[in-house]
Amino acid sequence: VTQPAQSPTATDALPESAFLRAARGEPVPHTPVWFMRQAGRSLPEYKAIREGTTMLESCMRPDLVVEITLQPVRRYGVDAAIFYSDIVLPLKSTGFGVEIKPGVGPVVADPIRDLAGLDAVRPVTEADVPYIIESVQGLVSQLGGTPLIGFAGAPFTVASYLVEGGPSKDHAKTKALMHGDPSLWHALADRLADVAIAYLSVQIEAGASAIQLFDSWAGGLSARDYAEFVQPHSAKVFAALEQYGVPRLHFGVNTGELLGLMSEAGADVVGVDWRVPLDEAVRRIVAAGGSPKPVQGNLDPALLIAGWDAIEPEIDRILAEGKSAPGHIFNLGHGVPPTTDPDVLHRVVKAVHEKSARA
Ligand code: CP3
Repeated sequence: VTQPAQSPTATDALPESAFLRAARGEPVPHTPVWFMRQAGRSLPEYKAIREGTTMLESCMRPDLVVEITLQPVRRYGVDAAIFYSDIVLPLKSTGFGVEIKPGVGPVVADPIRDLAGLDAVRPVTEADVPYIIESVQGLVSQLGGTPLIGFAGAPFTVASYLVEGGPSKDHAKTKALMHGDPSLWHALADRLADVAIAYLSVQIEAGASAIQLFDSWAGGLSARDYAEFVQPHSAKVFAALEQYGVPRLHFGVNTGELLGLMSEAGADVVGVDWRVPLDEAVRRIVAAGGSPKPVQGNLDPALLIAGWDAIEPEIDRILAEGKSAPGHIFNLGHGVPPTTDPDVLHRVVKAVHEKSARA
């Protein structure tokens, strides 16, 4: 009896996607591209669907999470989707007092001041986040051959909100805690490593194909402080996820001096902001004692409003510099600014695909 011919399913195509191939350092038909904060306020369809719902409420509604995550995939033809959520969502899901204030960011009701405050911080269990599991599963079934990137905030960046009580420019209270009460600092960061591990594991087990650990504000630290107070905790997160075999991406802003240490923490792909050219980033990763790794980045988001004549040569430069890495995932150096014209992002995706396929 002959079996009916199996049509190739979208799931067969997924491991061969340009994004996952580049993340593994394999040859690609074109340079894959996605944008940090590709979902959200730069899209009119996002503003429309978010009407009347708070940010964190929307993250707990699978219908909204699926739709908002897919919006930029449909509009831009990017090579990966990033799960619509937030770095404080896993804390919110366990009842921790945190809100996202529009135009401000995460605001914490009772900032962490002592060991007793840590009791309120615990990792999610599957029972805490049925909506995350349902959202990821719904997305994976609709995304077909396009990978879904799960994410979490790294211990330092999440700790900065918990210690400061909200966004901060200098992270002074966080640094004061590190140096003034190292044992409390390490207890907090270790707890937040467990929070990230649990949240990322849920996303991977539900079907996410890759994860990104955002240590957005780590660039405010000296390399010395990063190595002592932060790297061991981020390394714990990466080590715990190794068993899944999915690419682990790591990113922070202004981390030029930390690229080697962030790579060493266990990243498979190192995110680079616009301050350091990608070829120099690869040199810094290797100089830290590593082998060359795939990199992600690094168009300056500010250029998105500079006009195409300014953007195009930057794309050419970044694609050329990215060739020195075993894999290059094109991205911005940080998130999409809310005022970005979506048509410009669409044009960037097309240009990256066409130029890199020709090259
Ligand atoms: O498209 C995507 O990238 C997916 C979703 C995503 C959001 N937050 C949605 C969001 C991701 C990956 C994040 C991560 C996140 N959240 C980080 C790390 C990434 C980075 O940007 O460095 C950080 C530091 C946060 C904390 C946070 N949440 C901030 C600073 C803000 C902005 C506050 C503001 O309004 O200016 C948020 C809110 C937030 N997270 C929005 C979105 C779409 C905007 C809220 C809204 O639309 O009301």
